[in-house]
Amino acid sequence: MDKNNKRIALVTGATGGLGTAMCEQLAKDGYHVVGNYRSKQKADEWMEAMKNNGFNIELFEGDVCSFDSMGAMVSSIEKEIGPIDILVNNAGITRDGRFAKMSLDDWNAVINTNLNSVFNVTRHVINGMIERQFGRIINISSVNGQRGQFGQTNYSAAKAGMHGFTKTLAMEVAKYGITVNTISPGYIGTDMVMAVPEKVREQIVAQIPMGRLGGTNEVAYLVSFLASDATSFVTGANYSINGGQHVY
Ligand code: CAA
Repeated sequence: MDKNNKRIALVTGATGGLGTAMCEQLAKDGYHVVGNYRSKQKADEWMEAMKNNGFNIELFEGDVCSFDSMGAMVSSIEKEIGPIDILVNNAGITRDGRFAKMSLDDWNAVINTNLNSVFNVTRHVINGMIERQFGRIINISSVNGQRGQFGQTNYSAAKAGMHGFTKTLAMEVAKYGITVNTISPGYIGTDMVMAVPEKVREQIVAQIPMGRLGGTNEVAYLVSFLASDATSFVTGANYSINGGQHVY
């Protein structure tokens, strides 16, 4: 809680398409939202744009690939704002390419940013949540961790790993009032998806029964739901949000 008794929510990768929508929604819900960022220039522009839209969201610098950087960031947030009640592990990247041609750098970058990041941040907040007997951890995975995607061995491995993490941590901390859940978005209209070559993207959209990309706000609503008190008995779950692209 902050000094006004508002729950504090941290969103990693806040300045991206999904992160921005999550920050806005959680702020509308009445949380004290803080975001994490890596690129200073993007952060300044983002905060300005958010202010113009009526959202006053502080950003804290840090590299999710670094355990020590995340430790320092979490300490600063705790000192300046208060302890983190809701953590959204959202930061992620792609480095797509067939495995037969994949470089070690592209493998490591994706595993570090998308999977090791979950350890690097969560490990610094979990004991505080245990002490306070409350917490919400929401891991943003992907449909491509559930089903695989040509050109994404690194990404699919990391995203599937996130849900393995969710399931086990959910069991370990359930008795302390902490829930841990995964959201697996399909193809959402973000820069990440728009970076897929247009022809390939059109083929992908053709496989989505709803016939369109998802909206960032649609994923943000699900984050809002899982952050709320209403979901106190939901833990270890994986919520699909993909327009029917992958049903099983
Ligand atoms: N199924 C089967 N074969 C495929 C294929 C597919 N989906 N996609 C490409 N191929 C085949 C091509 O037909 C071609 O085969 P031939 O050589 O026999 O003609 C071969 O793969 C081409 O491979 P290249 O190594 O030359 O690679 P490329 O430069 O054409 O790029 C790719 C391949 C990187 C996979 C590219 O197709 C691509 O970007 N695909 C989209 C991947 C994708 O969906 N990424 C999601 C990003 S968004 C995201 O990740 C968010 C989220 O969570 C959903």
